[in-house]
Amino acid sequence: MLKDHLQELQQHDTPLYVYDLDLLRQTLRKAQDEAARYGYQVHYALKANANAPILAEVKAHSFGADCVSGNEVKCAIENGFSPEHVVFAGVGKSDAEINFALDNDIFCFNCESSHELAILNELAAAKGKTARIALRINPNVNANTHKYITTGLEENKFGINAWELPDVLSQLQELSNLKLTGLHFHIGSQITDLSSFKNLCTRVNEFQEWFQQHNLELEHVNVGGGLGVDYYHPDGQPIPDFEAYFALFHQFLQVRPGQQVHFELGRSLVAQCGTLLSRVLYIKHGKTTNFAILDAGMTELIRPALYQSYHKIENLSSQLAEDKYDVVGPICESSDCFGKAVVLPETNRGDLIAIRTAGAYGQVMTSEYNLRDRAKAIYLHQ
Ligand code: LLP
Repeated sequence: MLKDHLQELQQHDTPLYVYDLDLLRQTLRKAQDEAARYGYQVHYALKANANAPILAEVKAHSFGADCVSGNEVKCAIENGFSPEHVVFAGVGKSDAEINFALDNDIFCFNCESSHELAILNELAAAKGKTARIALRINPNVNANTHKYITTGLEENKFGINAWELPDVLSQLQELSNLKLTGLHFHIGSQITDLSSFKNLCTRVNEFQEWFQQHNLELEHVNVGGGLGVDYYHPDGQPIPDFEAYFALFHQFLQVRPGQQVHFELGRSLVAQCGTLLSRVLYIKHGKTTNFAILDAGMTELIRPALYQSYHKIENLSSQLAEDKYDVVGPICESSDCFGKAVVLPETNRGDLIAIRTAGAYGQVMTSEYNLRDRAKAIYLHQ
């Protein structure tokens, strides 16, 4: 796809984010179709990518919005998501953020601690409102992913622990400005071993049972996001396996009559459609290796430096014989490296380099470290 647009791409300054809107639409459609088989509703996790043209597509495909800050709630509403399809999660919501979401009558607050419940009740009471809430429960399920993006273990800061639930239920009886409508779970991100989701279902079923024994009917159960993508073979299977993912929940999740099942997917919807485009500034021959020094660095894509992740790297300009390169950025940090001993065609100054599968947690995590300019974005479609 990128090679078809080479002439156009050459006109642009780099570093640059390039989004393939056709692939995005295809991915969104597939996810929606597979979710719709079982009547599941998906809220898109804005934290993965909140660019307006991306949100427009997500919205056009009937997804709701999963937000983790007041600004994300604002962004979702400004981009056309109806407040009744907006959920607000996060372990540390500020009073101002809560007030903003209350003023906009969002669908649900996913609450993560008993202290948060008390404050939310207070703020809702001050406005004479009742906030709809889901309890985010920490299910203590291992997601088998990088430890920085594991969220469902007891040692993680997220959610209410199982042993706190009896106290939380008594507390809720006193909090008359909160209405408990659902349960929320999220065990982590970039999960490629689907058995983790099966384990999650088992735990969710246990919690549902417990709530039923306490005569609490819940309108919805939200099982979070986390479906991983293949960073090594972006063209092999460009769309994550939504079919197997939703089918697994259908098989293992026990749903109460009339209860809605919600998901919060981010990465799997937008990762594949984005590429970080860069140019080679210099080639440096070290003693044991060659360095290809790019004009993009960890300021544009921090995932390799932060999670030791690899995004497939391609040289779009060269067809010469292959060699090995350490592909690095210009930032004054040794972790500013996109890949070691990467096999590329002979690479020269000015070559266009594509760093693939960068649509999720790429542009949103850019920084101005070293006083760099923020990368811009373009959107390609047929
Ligand atoms: N719901 C909750 C409560 C979350 O915390 C997250 C992601 C999601 C949904 C969406 O998860 P997804 O479907 O995208 O896996 N910056 C990291 C990822 C951090 C994910 C944080 N939470 C990375 O680049 O890998």
